[in-house]
Amino acid sequence: MRNISTSFEDYDRIYRQSVEQPEAFWAGIASEFYWRKKWDKVLEWDFTKPEVNWFQGGKLNITENCLDRHLATRANQTAIIWEPNDPKSSAKHITYKALHSEVCKVANMLKANGIKKGDRVCIYMPMVPELAYAVLACARIGAIHSVVFAGFSSASLATRINDADCKMLLTSDGSFRGAKTIALKEICDVALEECPSIERVITLKVIDSPVEMKADRDIWWHEALSQVDDDCPAEEMDAEDPLFILYTSGSTGSPKGMVHSTGGYMVYTTYTFLNAFQYEEGDIYWCTADIGWITGHSYIVYGPLAAGATTVMFEGVPSYPDFGRFWEICEKHKVNQFYTAPTAIRALAKHPTELVTKYDLSALKVLGTVGEPINEEAWHWYNEHVGKKNCPIIDTWWQTETGGFMISPIAGQTPLVPTYATQPMPGILPAIMDENGEEIKDIEAQGRLAIKFPWPSIARTIWGNHERYKNTYFSAFPNMYFPGDGCLRDNNGNYRITGRVDDVVIVSGHNLGTAPIENAINEHVNVAESAVVGFPHDVKGNALFAFVITKGENIDSTRLTDEIRTIVSEKIGPIAKPDHIQLVPGLPKTRSGKIMRRILRKIASNDTSNLGDTSTLLNPEVVEAIMEQVKG
Ligand code: WT7
Repeated sequence: MRNISTSFEDYDRIYRQSVEQPEAFWAGIASEFYWRKKWDKVLEWDFTKPEVNWFQGGKLNITENCLDRHLATRANQTAIIWEPNDPKSSAKHITYKALHSEVCKVANMLKANGIKKGDRVCIYMPMVPELAYAVLACARIGAIHSVVFAGFSSASLATRINDADCKMLLTSDGSFRGAKTIALKEICDVALEECPSIERVITLKVIDSPVEMKADRDIWWHEALSQVDDDCPAEEMDAEDPLFILYTSGSTGSPKGMVHSTGGYMVYTTYTFLNAFQYEEGDIYWCTADIGWITGHSYIVYGPLAAGATTVMFEGVPSYPDFGRFWEICEKHKVNQFYTAPTAIRALAKHPTELVTKYDLSALKVLGTVGEPINEEAWHWYNEHVGKKNCPIIDTWWQTETGGFMISPIAGQTPLVPTYATQPMPGILPAIMDENGEEIKDIEAQGRLAIKFPWPSIARTIWGNHERYKNTYFSAFPNMYFPGDGCLRDNNGNYRITGRVDDVVIVSGHNLGTAPIENAINEHVNVAESAVVGFPHDVKGNALFAFVITKGENIDSTRLTDEIRTIVSEKIGPIAKPDHIQLVPGLPKTRSGKIMRRILRKIASNDTSNLGDTSTLLNPEVVEAIMEQVKG
């Protein structure tokens, strides 16, 4: 499966094969997995519908590939190293055999509580081993998991539970995050007041805090688990059966429940994991993401486990007990491949390098980054202080929607260009589109990125809203997938992602739609209207700036801004709280009533020397007034 292993020419050759004969290429990779029944057809697709089917007719269970398949050869190898929040507690080494048994038990617990194939199970849990068990347990019995990051608010949780019509919620009493604890069950209780579909809540004891248990609905994990055994045959799934739903923000409207399939997702995440990281037998791999995001789904759980790797799962945060924690863990577990986000790198780079240099990082072979464009300084800091100029950095560009890496270096083989994601993965056909929607054929190009051919792990739809899926991703350019990013290509064919071209702002690696934040702000009785834009921030990458028009008399502006922050935190989550809130007399609007965000972005970034064409504004005078207020 790791078919690129010696040189960049190797990549070139494999890449050509993959795009010239995609079906033969992916069939070859897929045949290295365990299928109960082989597929009838490798690929069928039509981006106008849009419809994509990979390995149609194939029957499998992904957990047989992540677990059972390994028992003959690696039963006693560690599958997951779990590193707890508290550095004084000991890490857990969970073997493939133990993981198999735990997953089967949790699967039986789900079944005993009424979950069947096709049911949706919401998982709102901290980074404890049981989270991984829960994800795999759903897959074991064909239930569709919907993991909601346990930093989201109760309102966000409720929206997601209701959208997917989840029958069960798996959670914990609380979570440890550095020196703090968060009462997760309480957040669930608030959410569940609005979630009639949830019949059963199973709560894991993590922090040992008192929680309220609702009769007939809530049970304890340890009690439910004590009633089942670890014999759970895997459900036979079709390659195209949904494996999970994962929500991602849109530039407008409610979050989008991206639906991923079983067979194609497995094949692609495993293949890209092995090749991009050049993972070798026996290596220790650590991705610092949370399983609540796609990075955790694809590159903590499914990809590494299907590859038979040892994957590290970390409960805590990079700053606890100090900013050396990541490196302490790398030393302790002799991590070989380390994968994190630019925002984490920038935060760590603000602290004395001694916090890195005091640890032995000699096991490191490959570094990875994901989530947003990495800036030059962060890239060099990572390369020098962590990689000791001896570890290739793979800058992996991809999305919740793509399931796996799309553009990324192959570690040690692709020539690196700092801040460039470089070359497309095998099977990926990128195009750069100009303002008229035409593909730019010149090698050097800048424009909007599109993808011309399906790959096995493309999301198949938005849960319950195929029309929105079509409009969001397949209407910008006919017959192409549009990811929403801008991009440039240098004369060696290297791609550099330049950032979102829509109203999504990436704050500390979290994708946030501005519209839902504005809706939350507008709920305040003293808010008439608001506009939220991103502006550059040296640690978070982008931060949020809210322009707010007030209504009502005698407004206490300090109190109002505090209350706005609280509302946003409650409706969306603390990560969405604006860094800056400016009360303004009006917002710049076009004649058709659309807010001209371009101008607000410039004001927020303190870059007002050239505001561009403002002639189409209905109210050009408001721009001056806003600038006055911001300066004041
Ligand atoms: C958006 C997707 C992929 C898992 C984490 C984020 C941005 C992601 C990179 C990168 C430049 C990147 C894009 C993309 N992005 N990785 N290496 N270089 N930009 O997943 O939350 O679905 O966000 O993140 O803008 O569209 P996501």
